[in-house]
Amino acid sequence: MNPQAEQLNERLRQHGATAYALLSRLGKAMYFPKIGILNQSAEAKSKAHTFNATIGIATEGNGPMHLGVIQETLSAYSPNDLYPYAPPQGKPELRKAWRAKMLKENPSLQGRTFGDPIVTNALTHGLSIAADLFADEGDAVIMPDKNWENYELTFGVRRGANIVTYPLYNDAGKFNAAGLQEAIVAQASKGKAIVVLNFPNNPTGYTPTEAEANDIIAAVKAGAEAGVKQAVVTDDAYFGLFFEDSVRESLFGKLIGLHPLVLPVKVDGATKEEFVWGFRVGFITFGSESAEANDVLEQKTLGTIRGAFSSGSHPSQTFVLRALEHPDFEKQRDEKVGILKSRANRVKQVLDGGKFEDAWEYYPFNSGYFMCLKLKTVPAEALRKHILEHHGVGTIALGDTDLRVAFSCLEEGDIERIFDLIYQGVKELEQIAVK
Ligand SMILES: Cc1ncc(COP(=O)(O)O)c(C=O)c1O
Repeated sequence: MNPQAEQLNERLRQHGATAYALLSRLGKAMYFPKIGILNQSAEAKSKAHTFNATIGIATEGNGPMHLGVIQETLSAYSPNDLYPYAPPQGKPELRKAWRAKMLKENPSLQGRTFGDPIVTNALTHGLSIAADLFADEGDAVIMPDKNWENYELTFGVRRGANIVTYPLYNDAGKFNAAGLQEAIVAQASKGKAIVVLNFPNNPTGYTPTEAEANDIIAAVKAGAEAGVKQAVVTDDAYFGLFFEDSVRESLFGKLIGLHPLVLPVKVDGATKEEFVWGFRVGFITFGSESAEANDVLEQKTLGTIRGAFSSGSHPSQTFVLRALEHPDFEKQRDEKVGILKSRANRVKQVLDGGKFEDAWEYYPFNSGYFMCLKLKTVPAEALRKHILEHHGVGTIALGDTDLRVAFSCLEEGDIERIFDLIYQGVKELEQIAVK
């Protein structure tokens, strides 16, 4: 093993024994070269006053060399904020602004120790960093049965981890904290689990109430008391899109300091909450109570970034930073959240109108982009294909019974008609089945 990785591991053993024990083989081997090109360049940036011949970009005059055909479309921005490489950990101002936003929107983080957010190539990449650092072949990755399908690739296919699911809802249609606890405690003999908490949930659009959130935290704690070390990853992709009486904070805050065997890891980003899907700007933040341990985890994260694609897109980071700093940012974002909330309300109104009861029920939802129907009479995939081919309506089939509808991309005035068409599709399929 590289001595720099060994040094990091030693620091982590001393200051974050749980984080060390949770590291995968890759996580243990990972380091960010202290004496490498990037660090030497960074040192020269502050000290090389005569000539700086370190950086791997081309310069001209006092700035980065660039082409007029690109700059003319981006003239609101300084070339320095677009063309040079961003540092692998991300633009410092953006990291600072995101941390300030996290604190403002999550009061439970006040006074807590946690690392600085590290910029990722959006949330998928944040999740894959967590998978690289913590998941080994056969490790349990615990998530509800209704989950974002890409976890399978990120944790299962890429890292060989074992996806363990529990039913998201209990019989009362509430979050099934008992199922979560059971799944964690079942890992007691292995002593390790990665727990993914995704609220608002994809695909159901569900976020727990305060009481349910406390039950989730208690379940994680009970798992730790049973001896299971846990990297608890909060996937906060749809953060802020809360429409009813759910919690309005990430569970990350409640997880920090919960138990010595729990390492909270927050994955979030601008993608969904700032409506910039293609920019690819996200963050990963470590919630060890030891600043030293968070620093080691940051170094290892930088190693994975450097080893995969060196650094994220600089223009995207500049665009997001500019938005966060703009005085109208919150107002504009709140307006868009309001539009999504009206659509969610309209969906509920249409579904509660009593027209569709023989065809489906719906899973509780109160947030995010989506809702899910639970079909009673026809298979989800058959219905998906049928309404696509015969009515031009696109939905996502999940498993045998569930059909995901993204109200985020439906105009409020179209919502009733779409559910009418889905219902018509159900009836047509039922007829075909009878014949
Ligand atoms: C729950 C969840 N997490 C993460 C992501 C990935 O987000 P990004 O586009 O920022 O990689 C998605 C996107 O659909 C998602 O639904």
